[in-house]
Amino acid sequence: MTDSDRLVEAARRAREFAVAPYSHFKVGAALLTANGAIVTGCNVENASYGLTVCAERVALLKALSDGLREFVMIAVVADTASPTPPCGPCRQLLWEYCGDIPVVLANLSTIAGHHQMRDLLPHPFDGRLLSS
Ligand code: THU
Repeated sequence: MTDSDRLVEAARRAREFAVAPYSHFKVGAALLTANGAIVTGCNVENASYGLTVCAERVALLKALSDGLREFVMIAVVADTASPTPPCGPCRQLLWEYCGDIPVVLANLSTIAGHHQMRDLLPHPFDGRLLSS
């Protein structure tokens, strides 16, 4: 089984925990660390809507708060015919903390695409600009 297959499976399992009583749109994410660990996340919604946290950010924040800092790939799973790519704020954070990693998009039965973060967030604003 490839790393993408393992990650997609983990993201599918994480999606089951989605807290999405408002949108009913469940998303799972799984982040692979440089030492081979997998950290998962699901979307968590709330009644004010705007404070919703996407699956990708939950996975990333869980990993960062456990002291993990090096990431090599992320998978995102939703139950949609077309793949669900990370939203804008998630792209910003994934770029900042994971760099140009591959993003694997899948639904419940198939892997629908591989993208590089540099293609999902061209011309990024990041810390390099703050020190120039
Ligand atoms: N969502 C994610 O968790 N990740 C994405 O990549 C797209 C959107 C969530 C946020 C919200 O809970 C629901 O999907 C509908 O937007």
